[in-house]
Amino acid sequence: MVLLGVETSCDETAAAVVAEGREVLSSVVASQEDVHAKFGGVVPEIACRVHLEVITQVIRRALADAGVPAGRLDAIAAVNGPGLVGALLIGLTAAKTMSWLHRLPLVAVNHVAAHVYAANLPPGSIEYPVVGLVASGGHTSLCYARIPGEIEFAGATIDDAAGEAFDKVASILGLGYPGGPAIQKAAETGDPSRVRFPRTRLGPGSLDFSFSGLKTAVLYRVRGQDGKGRDLGGLDAQEIADVAAGFQEAIVDVLVEKSVAACRRFECPGLAVGGGVAANRRLREKLGSAAREEKIRLFLPELRYCTDNAAMVAGLGFHLLRLGRTAPLDVDAVPQLGELVG
Ligand code: KG4
Ligand code: ZN
Repeated sequence: MVLLGVETSCDETAAAVVAEGREVLSSVVASQEDVHAKFGGVVPEIACRVHLEVITQVIRRALADAGVPAGRLDAIAAVNGPGLVGALLIGLTAAKTMSWLHRLPLVAVNHVAAHVYAANLPPGSIEYPVVGLVASGGHTSLCYARIPGEIEFAGATIDDAAGEAFDKVASILGLGYPGGPAIQKAAETGDPSRVRFPRTRLGPGSLDFSFSGLKTAVLYRVRGQDGKGRDLGGLDAQEIADVAAGFQEAIVDVLVEKSVAACRRFECPGLAVGGGVAANRRLREKLGSAAREEKIRLFLPELRYCTDNAAMVAGLGFHLLRLGRTAPLDVDAVPQLGELVG
């Protein structure tokens, strides 16, 4: 079975054609990174407008690259949440229109569950069941997937998402947007032991996350206790690198610790990681060592499948279709993870 996947939950307009849930025949991602860079974050209204301008071309290009005309598809999978509601509506409406026009089944895909599935795209493959850690600009969640398409959410951030914290701290440190890669680069020349930031664990055994205290700690370190000091408070390049390294170490430690705790809680031998932050080199290293120590099998996506893409959507969509989980044409866009069904 060959599916078209469509993804427009945030600032990437993406479409992909995937056969049998794993063979990626094409994957097109039109990033709006440059458009939002000058604002230091995604501006929802602008994101919607750009999705609208490029969605048709992106879908056409994905079909052409795969050499599959729309009429030969078996189904269309589109993300219907969580995400920016206006942005979601554009991809979802395009998918609904194609589904109606070509009389193809429509599959509604949960964006966070699709991030967990990303590590199952070649050259990787997931052995289920797995605990899923998704850390991106919009989400930080822990979940348990018994099989692809059956997911139970176990923890989430109560304030900022991990990627959002990277972006905000990069902005405090004057490192630019998107913050994740910028912090990672600055941290390479920094020493994390010179600036130790707090690790917020919440209650004992909690699988939830909180990163806003860490972000504030960086702000105070840079601008003084009232946060109103001079920009960068006269820090030199080495001090900025040390703060970046200390921050990255704190966030990575919490992500690793809670993922291991979730594997223990579910007595699960595997951990699949997804989302933009899964591209972080230090996180990948520390997850690797923790997995070896704890005898957990670690499944990491290729870098291009960490950030938003539609191959993970078409891939997971295939499994949902096989489970008979098709969606009606009036399926809604749902901005909040907690309000999504399944
Ligand atoms: O998954 P994604 O493309 O979009 C959302 O669904 O949010 O994730 C984007 C986020 C951004 O916050 C970005 O700063 C972060 O992922 N990111 C990274 C790295 N690459 C991207 N964070 C840490 N280290 C990286 N190397
Ligand atoms: Zn995402």
